This record gives sequence, C-alpha cells and structure tokens, in this order.
Amino acid sequence: MEKSPLVHNRLRWHSSLAKLTVWSFLFLGLILIFFFRSPSSNPLQQDPSRRSLRTYNWGGPAWEKRVRSSASVRSRNGISVLVTGAAGFVGTHVSTALKRRGDGVLGLDNFNDYYDPSLKRARQALLERSGVFIVEGDINDSALLRKILEVVAFSHVMHLAAQAGVRYAMENPSSYVHSNIAGLVSLLEVCKSANPQPAIVWASSSSVYGLNTKVPFSERDRTDHPASLYAATKKAGEEIAHTYNHIYGLSLTGLRFFTVYGPWGRPDMAYFFFTRDILKGKSIQIFEAANHGTVARDFTYIDDIVKGCLAALDTAEKSTGSGGKKKGPAQLRVYNLGNTSPVPVSGLVSILERLLKVNAKRDIMKLPRNGDVQFTHANISLAQRDLGYKPSTDLQTGLKKFVRWYLSYYSGGEKAAS
Ligand SMILES: NC(=O)c1ccc[n+]([C@@H]2O[C@H](COP(=O)([O-])OP(=O)(O)OC[C@H]3O[C@@H](n4cnc5c(N)ncnc54)[C@H](O)[C@@H]3O)[C@@H](O)[C@H]2O)c1
Ligand SMILES: *[C@@H]1O[C@H](CO)[C@@H](O)[C@H](O)[C@H]1NC(C)=O
Ligand SMILES: *[C@@H]1O[C@H](CO)[C@@H](O)[C@H](O)[C@H]1NC(C)=O
Repeated sequence: MEKSPLVHNRLRWHSSLAKLTVWSFLFLGLILIFFFRSPSSNPLQQDPSRRSLRTYNWGGPAWEKRVRSSASVRSRNGISVLVTGAAGFVGTHVSTALKRRGDGVLGLDNFNDYYDPSLKRARQALLERSGVFIVEGDINDSALLRKILEVVAFSHVMHLAAQAGVRYAMENPSSYVHSNIAGLVSLLEVCKSANPQPAIVWASSSSVYGLNTKVPFSERDRTDHPASLYAATKKAGEEIAHTYNHIYGLSLTGLRFFTVYGPWGRPDMAYFFFTRDILKGKSIQIFEAANHGTVARDFTYIDDIVKGCLAALDTAEKSTGSGGKKKGPAQLRVYNLGNTSPVPVSGLVSILERLLKVNAKRDIMKLPRNGDVQFTHANISLAQRDLGYKPSTDLQTGLKKFVRWYLSYYSGGEKAAS
C-alpha cells in the first residue's frame, strides 16, 4: 500500500519535531555550560576574589541614580563637573568647594595604594557627607568613562587623577605611564567623542620646568629638561592635551601646580612626613644642593590652588567639536599656580618645629639626582590677569592649619601615621 501524502507529511513533521527538540536541548545545555563556566559579564555579580584583577562594580539603575544625583546642579548658573582623582588631596578640596557653590560634582578614583588608602577612604567619607559620590574605577577604563558621560552630559571635567611624586619611579615606573599617559589619552578619547564635549581643566606640574635656572618660571619658558619620569609624563601630557585641542576642538586648560600643601594632604610629601617624623623624634633628611646650595620650594596653600581651579573652570570656553569632529578652533591655555615666594626647606622645618614645639633632628644630605630639582619659583602674572588668581596664604599660616588638622586626624590612635 502506498503511503498517502498526508501520512508521509505527518511522519516528516514528527521526525523534524524530534530533531528540533534534540537540538533545542543541546543548545540549552551549551548555553547553561557557557553561563556557569565563564566569569559573569555582569559587573554587579562579580566574585569578590576577582577584585584583585582591579575590576570594579559599576552600572545598574541604583548606581546610575547615585551618579545623577551627585552630578545634579543646584545653583542657577552652576556647572556639572566630573572630578577625576576626587579621593586625592587636591580632588577632595576642589570637589567640596564646587559642591558648596551648588555645582554638580561626580568623583572618580581608583583608590590605589601609592600612599595609605585609608586616608583616601576618610576623604571619601568627608565628600559623601557633602553629597559627592565617588565612582570607584580607573581613568584607563574607557567603557566606564563612556558610561559616565552617557549618564550625565558633564559641562566640565576637572582632571586630577595621576601618579604623583618623583621618587616612586624607582619602584613602579609603569604607574606613571598607566595613569599619566594611557589614562589621560583614554579620558581625552572619550571626551572628544562625547556629545556635548566637556571643557577640560587638568593638573600639570611645575616639574615641567625641570632643571631651568631662569627664575621665576614663566609659562613661555622652555620645558625640555625634565628631571624625573614624573616630569616627563606631565610634559608629554601637555603635548597630548595640545594635540586633542588641535585635532578635535577640545577646550583644554593645563594648570602647573607648585608644591601644594594643607589639611588632608599627601603623606609622601616632605612637609607631611617631616611633621610625622619630628613628632616621633626620628631624624629627618634635609637635602642641600652642590656647594651647600639651598633647596627651596614655592609652597602653595591648598585653598589658593582651589580658587585657581574654580576660576579656570569658570573661564573655560566650550569645546567646539562634537561626536569626534572639530568644528572650529578651541581654547588652549596653560597657567602657573604658585605662591611666588620660595622658602628654603630648612625654613619649612623651622616653622614646623615652632608649631609642633619639638626640635627636629636634622640630617643634612646631598640632593640625590633622582628627580628633585633645587628650587621652584612661579611667575603667576598670567593667572593673575586671566583668572584673577591671587594667592593669599603664607607658609606660616598654611602650615598652622595643616598641623592642626594633622594632630586631630591622627590623635585617635586608630589611624597610625605609618
Ligand atoms: N600636590 C602637589 O603638590 C602637586 C604638585 C604638582 C602637580 N600636582 C598634580 O595635581 C594632581 C592632584 O595631585 P594630588 O596632590 O591631589 O595627588 P593625590 O595622589 O592625592 O591624588 C590623585 C588621586 O588620583 C587617583 N588616581 C591615580 N591614578 C588613577 C587612575 N589611573 N584612575 C583613577 N584614579 C587614579 C589616586 O587614587 C588619588 O586619589 C595630580 O595630577 C598631580 O600630579 C600636584
Ligand atoms: C589601558 O587600557 C587599554 C585598553 O583597555 C589597555 O590595552 C592597556 O593595557 C591599558 N594600559 C595601561 C598602561 O594600563
Ligand atoms: C612673568 O610673565 C609675564 C607673562 O608671561 C612676563 O611678561 C613677565 O616678563 C614675567 N616676569 C618675570 C619677572 O619674569
């Protein structure tokens, strides 16, 4: 008997249904195997042991809500600023000042352990109390940066995240490349593609003047004698910034800070560890240059630096490009932010002795050739003219405020100044 076409079709249908079922199970099985064997792609579900690979938790509706709320502008003509390095010394002070004016502020910091991270956490707690959220992540993570600029259309970026200090290059040279070169490029790449492009103000350093002997240092002076890897990466950063301004129309302002000090400062800086060691009765090393030449610094108090940063943000023009295309020339500036009165390091120690009421044990040493320059002295007339910058705190007054903070911060005993 011949099979009727109908029966034949039904048989074919049954067998293809069976095949489909088998394939579906196989497919489902593969998906399940893939799902359980591969590391989760959802950053919110990451296993804590993976934190050592420096992946961070970000993303999701609750995270976005915190980001938006921190960045929301509360005053009428306020700006919205992404502050990188917000858990750092300068970043904390700038973020607080912006928030106090009613600007929108979002922080970004990777909380690295170049110096005691518990100090960064304490600054973070301070910022949290004033309503500033710090996203925990790396500036070299462009996916994170893109996400942040997608969630909030920032008008400005205050870029302070960097590998600071000159001596650390002996120990970890690649950290300078990671943060000051790769991280800077990643930030500028994401900013140039953003729509709108934010205006960028960023921290360079007086160290770009390197071994220059003509004083005071002016912005037009040559900067081709870097004396440290740190200085070389800051100098390169200035050229990279220049390039992004030229090619993509990003508005860029570089600020050359001169030895900033004050409350919540950096433990790797002389005024900070001198204070710690003098209090411990430990001897301190004071460098002198060849032929007993004095080593001097143009110490600048943090509040003066903050005023300079805010003025730079307020006078920054808009970037001219959009979505990666330049539409016209954009603002490009560089300013010294110093104090204009260099003080010999021995003078710094004398002030600290008076404030701490303890005599220092001085150990005079030759200045090593590993990055420290003999002196710095800023010519600030450009910043004075364009930013109304006028430093008003002398070293004695500023150190008094630092010492008061230091004693109260470390008096608890639980925070040993290591
Ligand atoms: N303090 C000074 O005397 C001085 C002088 C000249 C220039 N500067 C420059 O000013 C800026 C701020 O300096 P500071 O004294 O506040 O230093 P800081 O080390 O206290 O702050 C920098 C912050 O950036 C963070 N950071 C570093 N690399 C990062 C990365 N890849 N991704 C995300 N976060 C990262 C660090 O965790 C830190 O909290 C730096 O660019 C520094 O080079 C400072
Ligand atoms: C920065 O990120 C890029 C791209 O994700 C990565 O290839 C590179 O290794 C990183 N560079 C540094 C110095 O961390
Ligand atoms: C300071 O800088 C300004 C502007 O760059 C310059 O005109 C002036 O001559 C400089 N002053 C000194 C003392 O070098």
